[in-house]
Amino acid sequence: MLKSRADRYGAVAVSIHWLSAILIIALLGSGFRAANAGDAAAKAGILRFHIPVAIVVLLLTALRIAWWRFDRKPLPVQGSPRWQERIARWIHLAFYVVILGMVASGIGMMVLSGAAPAVFGAPGAILPNFTQYPPRVPHGIGGFLIVGLLILHAGAALYHQFVRRDRLLRRMWYSG
Ligand code: HEM
Repeated sequence: MLKSRADRYGAVAVSIHWLSAILIIALLGSGFRAANAGDAAAKAGILRFHIPVAIVVLLLTALRIAWWRFDRKPLPVQGSPRWQERIARWIHLAFYVVILGMVASGIGMMVLSGAAPAVFGAPGAILPNFTQYPPRVPHGIGGFLIVGLLILHAGAALYHQFVRRDRLLRRMWYSG
């Protein structure tokens, strides 16, 4: 079942969701490590992982946005109050906005600083100090925003699963 139904997400949406979740957590870990790396060679090494993974997340996000033209989101969870539905919708939208903002500010940092040769190992190229470039500010704020969104999003899913016991997580998994 590739497409979603009224009561659950389809295989395409489920695959994009969990793959993006794993890669975004990897981006947060590698991003904070890169920002705190004292040694330029170590920072460049981390960024050689961080940047390609971010490009994959961009492609998955674009695919996800395109896919919703062919697929329809399931109905809201039965019995949830309207305010919870509304907050869930805002959090989902915020993920798209912040992820695209992170990709844009990351690219902005790389373009303005001309860091690509140093990151990708050109001999003699020196890694710049990214904090001197304006897109570094939204990139740093966006990292913390994603952490906050993840806590709210995963917290809500766990609340449904274990407090309301409505088996919500099954909606975001492959149907048997
Ligand atoms: C969804 C996409 C992305 C996420 C979630 C993400 C996440 C992060 C985080 C959390 C940090 C640490 C910020 C801090 O400590 O204040 C960071 C740093 C960094 N990111 Fe990203 N990032 C993404 C995309 C990109 C892209 C597309 C590029 C470049 C093309 C990029 C380049 C960098 C660089 C160069 C740093 C290090 C800045 C420094 O050393 O000061 N990021 N990223």
